[in-house]
Parts: sequence; structure tokens; C-alpha cells
Amino acid sequence: MHDTAKVIAGIAVFLIVVLSPVWYNTVTGQASYVPQLKLPTDEKYCVETAPYMRTNHIELLELWKKIVVRTGKRIYKATDGKTYTMSLAGTCMKCHSNKADFCDRCHNYTNVQPNCWECHVVPKGVKTEATEHAR
Ligand code: HEC
Ligand code: HEC
Ligand code: HEC
Repeated sequence: MHDTAKVIAGIAVFLIVVLSPVWYNTVTGQASYVPQLKLPTDEKYCVETAPYMRTNHIELLELWKKIVVRTGKRIYKATDGKTYTMSLAGTCMKCHSNKADFCDRCHNYTNVQPNCWECHVVPKGVKTEATEHAR
């Protein structure tokens, strides 16, 4: 009996420690360690897989830019065989139409400020104002 109580107490302490960030977020309503990203609701897949995009979207955009500017070709064949028009404003932002709560939120969190929008026009209808404070 004594040992069982100890084990239960041990598990309880373990769970409190493991789950405390979740409770903290639930109670305070903030995500303290990852920004909440608004993903497209009408599309399931990105050009490449999400983990790949998370770390390599910069390289992908660089590649698109290079191919378009150097060769004038605009069709990109993704790893799964699907084809996309290589366009920052026309392709990425068509799906990620919530720039504020997706690109900007993550960039603010990681303190990155791409200068792309000095030249590239943010398409009409793309959200550039955050719905809530990005904390
Ligand atoms: C000084 C202006 C300028 C800046 C800043 C700039 N671009 Fe561009 N970009 C251009 C021009 C001009 C083209 C050629 C447009 C064309 O042929 O359609 C282009 C083409 C591209 C293309 C391929 C076609 C398209 O319309 O998307 C991509 C992708 C691209 N740029 C990505 C970027 C990214 C990412 C950044 C920020 C890191 C960036 N650019 C910053 C001027 C700029
Ligand atoms: C056809 C619609 C579509 C296009 C086009 C698209 N995306 Fe995505 N993107 C998505 C979806 C849907 C997800 C979430 C996929 C998932 O969770 O498996 C996503 C995920 C991502 C992620 C990872 C987010 C995370 O979970 O951390 C990044 C970064 C990203 N996209 C950037 C881009 C960039 C940059 C472009 C243009 C080169 C682009 N996307 C083009 C639909 C699209
Ligand atoms: C999951 C987080 C995340 C999301 C979502 C995200 N980015 Fe990024 N982005 C980053 C990080 C982190 C860097 C800096 C990486 C580095 O310097 O290696 C970055 C860098 C960039 C750069 C290069 C900036 C520079 O000055 O060289 C461009 C361009 C860019 N992101 C475009 C986009 C676009 C467009 C979207 C939305 C469609 C987007 N990103 C969504 C995390 C994200």
C-alpha cells in the first residue's frame, strides 16, 4: 500500500511538471513558446511537406527567384509531381492568405524581417493585420 501511494505521488508530480506549460497556456490563454499559426483551411498540403517548408522555405523561394529571373521559366515541379507557378505573391500568398497570422507571426516570433514586400505586392484580400495580439 505504502509503495503504491509513492508511485501514484511520483506519477502525479511527473504529470504536473510535464503538463504545466499546457495548463499555463490554457489558464492564461497564451502560447508562451510557439506562435499560433493560422494555416489555410481550404488546402491540406503545401508545395513541399510542412517540416521541409518550416526549415527550407527560404531556400525554396531563393530557388524560385533564381529560376524565374535567370530562365524566365515559371513552372515548378514539386517532389510529389504536382506543378506550381513559381510566384511569391501569386502562389504562396494565394494559399497563405492570412499573412499577418502566418508569415508575420512566425517572423515576429523569430525576429526576422524579410524585405520582399518592398517590391513584391501583397495581393488584395491577403490579411496583413493580426486578429489578436501576437504575444
Ligand atoms: C528590389 C526589389 C525586390 C526585392 C526586395 C525582392 N524582389 Fe523578388 N523579384 C523582384 C523582381 C523585379 C522579380 C522579377 C519579376 C518577374 O519576372 O515576375 C522578382 C522575382 C521573384 C520571384 C519569382 C517570381 C515572383 O513574382 O514571385 C520570387 C519567388 C521572388 N522574387 C522572391 C523574393 C523574396 C523571397 C524576396 C525577399 C527575400 C524578394 N523576392 C525581394 C524584385 C524584388
Ligand atoms: C496549395 C496551397 C499552398 C501553397 C501554394 C503554399 N502553401 Fe505553405 N502550407 C500550406 C498548408 C496547407 C500547410 C500546412 C501543411 C501541413 O500542416 O501539413 C503549409 C505549411 C507551410 C509552412 C510550415 C508551417 C508550419 O507548420 O510550421 C511554411 C513555412 C509554408 N507553408 C510556407 C509557404 C511558402 C513560402 C510558400 C510558397 C513558396 C507556400 N507555403 C505555398 C498550403 C500552401
Ligand atoms: C514556422 C515559422 C515560419 C513561418 C510560418 C514562415 N516563416 Fe519565413 N522564416 C522563418 C525563419 C525562422 C526565418 C529565418 C531563417 C534563417 O535565417 O535561416 C525565415 C526567413 C524567411 C525569409 C528570408 C528572410 C531574409 O531576410 O533572408 C523569407 C523570404 C521568408 N521567411 C518568407 C516567408 C513567407 C512568404 C511566409 C509565409 C507564406 C513565411 N516565411 C512563413 C520562419 C517562418
